[in-house]
Amino acid sequence: MEQKKFRDMSQDERLQYLKIKTNLSEKEIDLFRNTGGLNFNTINGMVENAIGVFPLPIGIATNFVINNKEYLIPMAIEEPSVIAAASNAAKIAGRGGGFVADVDDSIMIGQIQLIPDSNNSINKSEIDDIIKVLQDNKNKITSLANTKSKFAECIDIKIRHIEDKSINSLGIMIIVEILVDVKDAMGANVVNTMCEGIAPEIELLTGGETILKILSNYATERLVRCKAIFPRDLIGGEDVLRRILFAYAMAYTDVYRAVTHNKGIMNGIDSVAIATGQDFRAIEAGCHAYACRDGHYKSLTKWYQNSNGDLVGEIEIPMAVGTVGGITNTHPIVKSCLKLLNVSSSKELATIMAASGLAQNFSAIRALADEGIQKGHMKLHSKNIAIMAGATDNMIELVSKKMVEEKNVSVSRAKEILETLNKKGV
Ligand code: MEV
Repeated sequence: MEQKKFRDMSQDERLQYLKIKTNLSEKEIDLFRNTGGLNFNTINGMVENAIGVFPLPIGIATNFVINNKEYLIPMAIEEPSVIAAASNAAKIAGRGGGFVADVDDSIMIGQIQLIPDSNNSINKSEIDDIIKVLQDNKNKITSLANTKSKFAECIDIKIRHIEDKSINSLGIMIIVEILVDVKDAMGANVVNTMCEGIAPEIELLTGGETILKILSNYATERLVRCKAIFPRDLIGGEDVLRRILFAYAMAYTDVYRAVTHNKGIMNGIDSVAIATGQDFRAIEAGCHAYACRDGHYKSLTKWYQNSNGDLVGEIEIPMAVGTVGGITNTHPIVKSCLKLLNVSSSKELATIMAASGLAQNFSAIRALADEGIQKGHMKLHSKNIAIMAGATDNMIELVSKKMVEEKNVSVSRAKEILETLNKKGV
């Protein structure tokens, strides 16, 4: 009998298959059976060849006040100290009046790549003719795009041309860009549908050939801006503040530092994105391109002192997030996270993302400018080490505390402490 295809197997059959074909033990296979708050049919509908779920810790960042509203922010992340750092920064920002954010409308860009018929020999006036035809038919194309969605609205079309700079030198191509207000959705599906829906009309009008028809993840028409004041006396002194400005100077100027600085910002943003079911790869890609918008990759945040001498932080980033569509309607944990956040729109969710990134960045550069990050990090990491050494329940705290006191956080020391505590009958 022919072997069933993996995709046609039940979860049990897939796990049995892995047991035969791989070196996983029964115990390791069993780890995949527990699908947490999700039932297997749901995850099997989300991705192909599903076998289980990948659990990540989820915690709540506290103290956030954004545009005068209090938030408890769910963050899904494996890295210790991110949630504590965000909460701590939010507390300090709260004393400076909280985060103030504003967001553009939810405009996403869809791109249609149009190759003129006689591509290689096309001249400037022929390009201008094609662009003119498209300009003259803007309303027709826009109306056609709008027949493809019940909620989103194509509000404009932009046309430009580019020349292939790759080794293939394929010549000139025209890029038709549709600007779509996707409201509370992230927008990928609706924009892709519109792009594919209008491409045949574009070919008909111009006699050209369309190749790519796809959303751009560079959401430059959907920016969020957020600002917070961190009072100088809560930062750790004038000298720490001075050193923070040097940290920013380095992140603005040096790409090796800028990448790490922005990685810290993404710690905050991605963890909220994961908890709320967003496409964090799209957010990452967009933010990093934005960091490079003027030709050199630099810090996504800005830091300076105001006239009171307090530290001001600002962030501006593209933010394509949705509170409807995607897994926001199907993933029970995502649904609960959105509910506990109590957001009423994708714009509001974007402000939370931006504030989380800014808060995270503040804590990172504050720690780096002062005592360094290892002290706080090891304190939180020591709990992991205690668990790795075999500590359970209240022993985790006891072992971790002792290691931190001794400034010796290691599995071998954790084992020794555990043994001593066990002998004492603690
Ligand atoms: C670690 O995940 C993030 C940091 O490296 C960010 C930074 O250096 O600014 C601490």
